[in-house]
Amino acid sequence: MFSSRTPGDLNPNRLTAILQQRQRDGLPFIDLTQSNPTRAGFDYPADLLAPLAHPRGLAYRPQALGLPEAREAVVADYARRGIRVPADRIALTASTSEAYSLLFRILCDPGDEVLIPYPSYPLFEHLTRVDGIVPRPYLLEYHGRWSVNLPALEQAISPRTRVVLAVSPNNPTGSYLKHDELRAIEHLCARHGAALVVDEVFADYPLPGARNGAAGDVLAASEALVFSLGGLSKTIGLPQAKLGWIAVAGPPTLAAAALRRLEFVCDLYLSVSTPVQAAAAELLERGAQVRASIQTRVVANFRRLAEMSGATPSVTVLEAEGGWYGVLQVPTLATEEELVVELLTAHGILVHPGYFFDFPRESFLVVSLLTPPPDFADGVRAILRHFDCTVGGHARG
Ligand SMILES: Cc1ncc(COP(=O)(O)O)c(C=O)c1O
Repeated sequence: MFSSRTPGDLNPNRLTAILQQRQRDGLPFIDLTQSNPTRAGFDYPADLLAPLAHPRGLAYRPQALGLPEAREAVVADYARRGIRVPADRIALTASTSEAYSLLFRILCDPGDEVLIPYPSYPLFEHLTRVDGIVPRPYLLEYHGRWSVNLPALEQAISPRTRVVLAVSPNNPTGSYLKHDELRAIEHLCARHGAALVVDEVFADYPLPGARNGAAGDVLAASEALVFSLGGLSKTIGLPQAKLGWIAVAGPPTLAAAALRRLEFVCDLYLSVSTPVQAAAAELLERGAQVRASIQTRVVANFRRLAEMSGATPSVTVLEAEGGWYGVLQVPTLATEEELVVELLTAHGILVHPGYFFDFPRESFLVVSLLTPPPDFADGVRAILRHFDCTVGGHARG
């Protein structure tokens, strides 16, 4: 009856089932997986969304790529980050997820392939399959810092490769795509007739380990067709506002052709609401204070994580340059799934296992740096105690 675009088994996985039981039993836990900023105890100004109620939103003026004033607001937001892009190279979407789908539809036929980084954003697997295309992994490697395994990426390219996806900074590794990597991938894409899509939703959140100018300028592309993705979801911590965007760069004729096709597909749905478009400039301006609070917290939590783990040699916090996550490498005392289940059931600490993000080997834990600081410190302390193989820790039972 149903297509294979959705998974055959939609039942909750083991960890989710255990968590749901714990919630039904009313047992408390510290949630180190919270990645929804609106539920992480930040003070959002009560009238932050007031611009959505402005009467200018009462007139419906459908424009497939977005209202001119909203596209200009996105241009101004790129300018805030020192990046120049013209308004006619911007397409608005309801979310980054929708942006991926629109791009897959203009670039891929069913059965075509998209290269996705491992480890990275778990949704890629589903976002590709739901559009009838095939995800193929390429590896990011950690040698004290993360880098793209470029030879492996090149090997993964096939005649059916239409798109290379990258996330910068990446979720959850926190690694930026460096200038040299970016240009090398762009070159490969140009040679193989593929497009490069770079998800920059976390670009506003550098961590203390970020080197100045570490991130390559995605929109400086001139060889290949390149797309940069962003949105209100992360840039001002408002996923529910449902406004994302695609900025297009590359050879001018290709970029113009891509925008015409995006316009065609966007016109079929017209999914971005008029009130959010009309309010975009004001929301981006008002949301700066939310962004600042998120930034302060993720930096403080990452510093705390690094400091606290310093006293536990069996646990390593991996270098991160940006984003909302911290990655801990821990001793393989059991499978990752068992480790995470034990942290939850024995200590009331919820973390993500590395396999959730397709780390190619075990054992890694991923924690959200959005967690309110007292909970974050308590949770991290419990994890470190659990894995401390030297004194009073797990090794001694
Ligand atoms: C890398 C990455 N891209 C996109 C998103 C989601 O963005 P949106 O809410 O705009 O779909 C997330 C959410 O966690 C993410 O981690």
